[in-house]
Amino acid sequence: MTTNQKLIIAIDGPAGAGKSTIAARLARKLGYINLESGAMYRGLALKAIRNDISFDDEAALLALAQNSQIRLEPTREGNRVFLDGVDVSQRIREQDVTSAASRVSIHPAVRQWMVARQRELGVGGGVIMEGRDIGTKVFPDAEVKIFLDAHPEVRQERRILQRTETVGQVESQRIAAELQERDLRDRTRVASPLVSAEDAIIIDSSHLSIDEVVDKVEELVRKKLGN
Ligand code: DC
Repeated sequence: MTTNQKLIIAIDGPAGAGKSTIAARLARKLGYINLESGAMYRGLALKAIRNDISFDDEAALLALAQNSQIRLEPTREGNRVFLDGVDVSQRIREQDVTSAASRVSIHPAVRQWMVARQRELGVGGGVIMEGRDIGTKVFPDAEVKIFLDAHPEVRQERRILQRTETVGQVESQRIAAELQERDLRDRTRVASPLVSAEDAIIIDSSHLSIDEVVDKVEELVRKKLGN
């Protein structure tokens, strides 16, 4: 299904719900671009680690953001991420950056800077952006809003399966604990916590395949487009 009408599709939800996979698949089907807003927070978090800047220092983090170039390049599989011109796509998925991204994202000034950049990326539509506050803050007028959720155990299991090496029990427990901690921080922070927009369609992906979720969202998009 391709169309000339270029919508904005917002997909929010917790880690492991399947947002990036769904966004990438759907983008391919619709001829849209998929943008992972979380990768921008990850880029900033990596720069903070490298510059030894405290994750609690809001002013220093904002200054760091203002002096950074964080670029997303949509691909068929997801986003490649460039920090100051260097490809950091692999590095930003590592555990220390994952945890740091959740910590730097609690600061209102950092969020304001990120939201402004993210809105620039949505100019012209034809965009599927995924994150935590896309339907509530970045694009409150998005034509299609999805809140993609899944049971915590399912999300933990997916994270474990994403690993290429075999994961033992201790490592599994660590992954589960990390996900729980990040969930709690993302949902309870004061600035733009992870919540479903009032007008979002909630999809629970716990017992659905990727194709089934993509079909559901595509159906909603088709309805919006009136065909
Ligand atoms: O989607 P992700 O796992 O790559 O996101 C990493 C962290 O970034 C997440 O724990 C919270 C933060 N984030 C956010 O606060 N707002 C967004 N729109 C996207 C991510």
